[in-house]
Amino acid sequence: MSFSELNPGLGQIAHLVSSLPFLLEEASSGVVCHSNPKMAAGRTLKTLSNLIARSGNVVKTASITTSNPLFSRNIKALPYFQTIAAYRAAVLHEIAKPLIIEDVTTTTKLKDLEIRIEVYTCGVNASDILICNGQYGIEQKMPFVPGFEVCGEVKEIGAKVKNFNVGDKVIGLKKDGYSGFAEECVVLEQDLWGVPQGMTFEIGASLLDTYGTALLGLHRRAEVEADDTVLVTAAAGGLGLAAVDLAANVYKAKVIGVCGTEDKASLVRDKGAFASLKYQAKNLRNKVMEVTGGKGVSIIFDAVGGDVFNESLKCIAHEGKVIVAGFASRQIPNVPTSLLLPQSFSLIGVSLSHYRDANNEVYRQVGNDVIELYEEGLISPHVSAIFPLEEVNAAMDFLLQRKSTGKVILKIR
Ligand SMILES: NC(=O)c1ccc[n+]([C@@H]2O[C@H](COP(=O)([O-])OP(=O)(O)OC[C@H]3O[C@@H](n4cnc5c(N)ncnc54)[C@H](OP(=O)(O)O)[C@@H]3O)[C@@H](O)[C@H]2O)c1
Repeated sequence: MSFSELNPGLGQIAHLVSSLPFLLEEASSGVVCHSNPKMAAGRTLKTLSNLIARSGNVVKTASITTSNPLFSRNIKALPYFQTIAAYRAAVLHEIAKPLIIEDVTTTTKLKDLEIRIEVYTCGVNASDILICNGQYGIEQKMPFVPGFEVCGEVKEIGAKVKNFNVGDKVIGLKKDGYSGFAEECVVLEQDLWGVPQGMTFEIGASLLDTYGTALLGLHRRAEVEADDTVLVTAAAGGLGLAAVDLAANVYKAKVIGVCGTEDKASLVRDKGAFASLKYQAKNLRNKVMEVTGGKGVSIIFDAVGGDVFNESLKCIAHEGKVIVAGFASRQIPNVPTSLLLPQSFSLIGVSLSHYRDANNEVYRQVGNDVIELYEEGLISPHVSAIFPLEEVNAAMDFLLQRKSTGKVILKIR
């Protein structure tokens, strides 16, 4: 039984008392506080490599390892240097069962490049639901705390963290280990970005995953420009609406959104789409050809898969580019390669998580760019619902039932 299970107040006291030697140790070891790494890059939106060349703030971290020692329920004696943290979290104990809000304790001393943050908000995403339902293709160890798109404040930094100070407002992606549906979370420095104090916690948890992925897909992979016509499927979803916003408002492309209901279609038009249609997979091509004067679209951004993807391919123009970004339908289409020939079109995959490991510089820069685009008022994330931590199961259900538009946010503090 943990301190906090005995008495929530005791857990907090234990945390304060046991933190003292650690803090003293930190002070005496000369841990230096650095200023917040606000992006210095002047963004032209010409090419991502231009952006990277101008930025002096890319955090380069090679071969980082991390652990996720979330739970320690039987604390007996602790070495003086360990901290005891007791905080509330939404915990999954059994696949496909509701999450339970409970106090958990951890006794983790931060590793060199780790940062402990107080989580204020966390985005609720499709992968949280898939993992909790055992549908993510990995065997998840229990207990498990979902949530990876966090926004909060830095509480403690590891010995070799260079770019953050205690108290900084940050947003982050914690795909290795999740654990963001909790009052506290430990994230590697390479997965955190500093944001201005003025950014709300709700917006902070709405930016990185969707806008980052959409920016990578549209800009870096498909090289979207103003003369493109972009078809976005699931256009009112988190990823889709970010793609609509970027394509229409940053790149000034002509956007056609497709989605499930008239209300969603209306939101997509409000976001800047030139046209938005309800899916009726069978006549999608006719409608798109009508809207594009028979030319078809030069870019497709798809996060649905299944029939919607197959039908959207019939709308692609000569030398078009089809971005495969996700599978909300949970149906992964098989595309015969012979299909690519008549229109000489390209199929392009995009995964933000993969960039983290394969091209960390680009991963970091995408985060910087998204923050800067928001600060300049060029993009405006849409949050359709905010649920308190206690209603985490309702939040996940809201997303699952396709009731959401844009982002769903869990408010933790
Ligand atoms: N590549 C990456 O790095 C990356 C990053 C983020 C997300 N993703 C993936 O992209 C997909 C969409 O993510 P998201 O954040 O946009 O999710 P979301 O906010 O839940 O939106 C998904 C939308 O897909 C539409 N949809 C169409 N058919 C569906 C079906 N059979 N079941 C459920 N939804 C269906 C729904 O809109 P309508 O009701 O309008 O049809 C729904 O609102 C997910 O598979 C996610 O894992 C990939």
